[in-house]
Amino acid sequence: TASAVTASVASIALAQNSRNPFKSQALSPKLHKSADGLLELELEASSRPISLGNKQATLLGYNGQVPAPRLEAQAGDIVRIRFTNNLSQPTNLHYHGLHVTPIGNADNAFLDIPPKESLTYEFTLPKNHPSGTFWYHPHRHGYVAEQVFGGLAGLFIVRGELDEIPEIQAAKEEFLVLQDFGIDGSGRIQSPNHMAMMMGREGQMLTVNGQVKPTFSIASGGLLRLRFLNASPSRFYRLALENHPFYLIATDGGALAEPVELKELLLAPGERAEVLVRGEREPQQYRLLNLPYNRGGMEMMEDEMGMMGGSSHMMGGSYQVNPQVLATLTYQGSVSTLPLPKQLIPVETLPEPKTLRRLELSMEEEMTPGMGMSFTFNGKAFDPNRIDAQVRLNTVEDWELVNVDPDRMDHPFHLHVNPFQVITRNGKPEPYRAWKDTVLVRGGETVRIRIPFRDFSGKTVYHCHVLDHEDLGMMGIVNIQ
Ligand code: C2O
Ligand code: CU
Repeated sequence: TASAVTASVASIALAQNSRNPFKSQALSPKLHKSADGLLELELEASSRPISLGNKQATLLGYNGQVPAPRLEAQAGDIVRIRFTNNLSQPTNLHYHGLHVTPIGNADNAFLDIPPKESLTYEFTLPKNHPSGTFWYHPHRHGYVAEQVFGGLAGLFIVRGELDEIPEIQAAKEEFLVLQDFGIDGSGRIQSPNHMAMMMGREGQMLTVNGQVKPTFSIASGGLLRLRFLNASPSRFYRLALENHPFYLIATDGGALAEPVELKELLLAPGERAEVLVRGEREPQQYRLLNLPYNRGGMEMMEDEMGMMGGSSHMMGGSYQVNPQVLATLTYQGSVSTLPLPKQLIPVETLPEPKTLRRLELSMEEEMTPGMGMSFTFNGKAFDPNRIDAQVRLNTVEDWELVNVDPDRMDHPFHLHVNPFQVITRNGKPEPYRAWKDTVLVRGGETVRIRIPFRDFSGKTVYHCHVLDHEDLGMMGIVNIQ
């Protein structure tokens, strides 16, 4: 089984460890696993002192943990979560990327759980649910960015066919939850100023599983499977393993058909990716870097600085000019060289649909001057009482996502419940087929996605995953009937 092979690789690593000076192994989040077809747990959200890196900070945690406990289930399982809101604000839970019903106490973005109240979530993963790296976080409109920036986010892993491929079973598995925090001198979460909200708030403390620059190890000759989640509300991660190749095996919605060699990997907020690292290089330390990336919005920032007398505090991000070190990879021990898988899981070809919808993503000035900006789809800010897209169940649609933002800000687009495939970017076909639930639409770009609406009817949402933009209106409702 996967765990037995992983255990034997791990014990080799452990034996070597006693002679290795780099002992600070990265900690994975706590685990809750399904048994006999049921994943059941209690989950409580509250504000409390939590250790982050080498500091204590007052953060928002699920069960007192940042990142939150890792949940693991299999296709066909029932998921039952007894949730209690001990925050001082309303909240709820969203199961990002899961293909489950959006109605009732399931992946329902319209639920509202007031402070001190509880709700039991219950839903079933379809029998053919893909295996992959999904996650959960709060989704109460107006509070999402603040609560996720406080730390509320955890992995939701669905185990299945990808985990059963022998080469993948032989790999050592690590989970990397990427979160950035802005912590003030008294250990509290910084509140963003006006511009930081427009840009999307970022913090200067970069963490992997709540740690600063942890160390991961790979057996020389062995394989390492890294499962990344960008759980930051706004920060983009342009990941690279210094002087070391890696191979993409899965995106948001699960496995690719075959591994794709990459030199770097851009993860917008909400996105996930799985890569294999092969221990075939010189045994030494390799740094996992976050390379500079400009996500746009410069003009707006300059205007704003003019307005505020140039004194406003930069929130990093677009202004990041140097690579940042996220973690270190060290080689330990050796195994006889393990091969990369040649084939993974075939990715379905979707039929070309008749329906094409166009969605313009933009930032609009509010009617009343001085009220700031709202973020919109087709010029409209979110209205919980309006249906923006009426879709027929069991049809496929193409959606054309057009970023017409006057400041050419990047907007990662996310659709709940219904995974999709990216067909073209600025008219050019994508290099490989993959399932996604969040796709980056850069300033000025047009991205065409193909969405099968199947299995579940009801109302759900799509939105920008720069969560301040979502809270400021960039969200719409799709009704599937
Ligand atoms: Cu991860 Cu609707 O969000
Ligand atoms: Cu956005």
